Amino acid sequence: MDSLGIVNALYPMPTTLVGATVNGRPNFITIAHVGIMNHGKPQYISIGMAKMHFTNAGIRENKSFSVCIPSEDLMKETDYCGIVSGKKTDKAALFSLFYGDLKTAPMIEQCPVCMECRLERTVDFPTHDVFVGEIEATYAQEEVLAADGNIDISKVKPLLFDMSSKKYWSLGKAIGNCWNVGKQLKAGRI
Ligand SMILES: Cc1cc2nc3c(=O)[nH]c(=O)nc-3n(C[C@H](O)[C@H](O)[C@H](O)COP(=O)(O)O)c2cc1C
Repeated sequence: MDSLGIVNALYPMPTTLVGATVNGRPNFITIAHVGIMNHGKPQYISIGMAKMHFTNAGIRENKSFSVCIPSEDLMKETDYCGIVSGKKTDKAALFSLFYGDLKTAPMIEQCPVCMECRLERTVDFPTHDVFVGEIEATYAQEEVLAADGNIDISKVKPLLFDMSSKKYWSLGKAIGNCWNVGKQLKAGRI
């Protein structure tokens, strides 16, 4: 094994568009540093955002944000939202918006999946805010649902972000069933 020093090797991550109301107006920021805090009720997710960004103040003020999952066909728009700042540009004009009950978490009609989050807590690092949100509601386009009503990730076609190559990647094919394929090893060892 070669030692690489300190490298975060956790990629790829799904690239998301995080929505917030900033100074009374909707804004979207591209965020790939997203996390799942738990699986259960309530459901908490996190987003890691450098303090310099325009969007942070809006999340702090309104205590809400959205996390939308763009498809591969929104690659240019998603990249653009990660290059320009809402300080000077109306990025929300790129999209058709909708709102849920929270009213201050703008979401994007063109994204196949969006989650509306109430800010649960903020972890305040010197350079970054980690916003932990409780998912209040999840919305999906009908076209990306499987027959059982669950989200079909192959239809969502998420943009996978990799820091090493600085490229967007697409999803491959499913290769096995979770909590299942391991049973083949378990069987021979009990
Ligand atoms: C693919 C991609 C992923 C990004 N992920 C993050 C991230 O996870 N955290 C972060 O603080 N900034 C991230 N950025 C940078 C912000 O999206 C970018 O600085 C944005 O323009 C800030 O927008 P705002 O000033 O309107 O808030 C990312 C940019 C790109 C292109």
